[in-house]
Amino acid sequence: MKKILLIVGGGIAAYKACELIRLCRKAGIEVKCVLTAGGQHFVTPMTLAALSENQVYTNLFDLKDEAEMGHIQLSREADLVVVAPATADLLAKMAAGIADDLATTLLLATDKPVLAAPAMNVRMWQHTATRRNVATLRGDGVTILEPDEGPMACGEYGPGRLPEPEAILRAIQNLWEGSGEGVAAHTTVTTAPPLTPPASGRGTLTGKHILVTAGPTHEPIDPVRYIANRSSGKQGYAIAGALAALGARVTLVSGPVTLATPPGVTRIDVETAQDMANAVAQALPADAAVMVAAVGDWHVEAAAQKLKKEGGAPPTLHLSENPDILAMLAASPRRPGLVVGFAAETEQVVDHAVAKRTRKGADWIVANDVSGDVMGGEANAIHLVTADGVEHWERLPKQDVARRLAERIADAL
Ligand code: CTP
Repeated sequence: MKKILLIVGGGIAAYKACELIRLCRKAGIEVKCVLTAGGQHFVTPMTLAALSENQVYTNLFDLKDEAEMGHIQLSREADLVVVAPATADLLAKMAAGIADDLATTLLLATDKPVLAAPAMNVRMWQHTATRRNVATLRGDGVTILEPDEGPMACGEYGPGRLPEPEAILRAIQNLWEGSGEGVAAHTTVTTAPPLTPPASGRGTLTGKHILVTAGPTHEPIDPVRYIANRSSGKQGYAIAGALAALGARVTLVSGPVTLATPPGVTRIDVETAQDMANAVAQALPADAAVMVAAVGDWHVEAAAQKLKKEGGAPPTLHLSENPDILAMLAASPRRPGLVVGFAAETEQVVDHAVAKRTRKGADWIVANDVSGDVMGGEANAIHLVTADGVEHWERLPKQDVARRLAERIADAL
């Protein structure tokens, strides 16, 4: 039987945790609850104990609990830690690594995946500090659900409502349906046959772990439709192969493409930008990261059922921003020593790439002009933007671009 540790934070939405417990139990999941001091203003330990049929933990310094169940053990015996509702305060403490009560201590002590379902006032959700904390946590591999949009208990309107308990349960089950603990939904891992590694020495990458993202993302609209882009994945796959050929251990996080895995490369298949962000966080630490994927900038608040033509107005798609994986990785405490981004531009290619390098915190930006046939094509004209300036490479087949870039990376590491 799967087990979750449910941390119930202090917010009006805490009452929905009761329904979540009931749904989890119905789905055969064992639930143990931790109720914060704030949470106790909204629901009682007795309610959660009755619904979960388990003891509810509230106090870090409760010696009786410590004797029976150490807080380290409590944080690790579950398969997943779920924070619902995750208040702005809880997210801030999690991002900062503060452990000043039982809930935050467990979150710091756990070695299990963490899923947080935020609920707060719309202004608090949109505040720069919360945006920063959410980006940090996603960069650390925490799955954070998007809050629902709608009228709020405080009388305002917007995103900030706790996702419905059914949606939280679905997210829990999606995490578990992935190929491994903590690996995102829709994720499969394959490893191509190994290469004979080159002898170690200068110009080789033996002993280095390099993370590469490639391909497009698919953002579902409903169970049968999605938003995608024209990226073929060819350049990213060529780079992953060239890095492996120089002896690197390569993890390739790939959106949906029809390419074969290059020899020696471990490939993690993902579908959405959020899956890709989770898989990237799970693949760390790495000595370098090369982010070639054409990540969708937005996702749709996807419908659970297929959209039907019903004769009235066409349906409206509500878009929300996706995590910027490159920027998150560059700002993460687990930042690889060398972070390389790509820039697909249709005008003022170099100017935009120079600005992008600073904005995203990358060490290098590999800029290409996608106004022609680059996407899906066989060749690429590159401008390599580093802290030292800009190099203009002649138009080269994507395999040659990959080899040259891999050699530059080997020299830099
Ligand atoms: N990238 C990412 N996550 C995103 C968007 C982009 O990791 N959500 C990475 C890409 O893999 C690439 C770089 O950021 O390495 C630049 O992507 P690009 O689409 O060119 O830039 P945008 O961030 O979308 O900016 P703009 O659309 O303003 O050019």
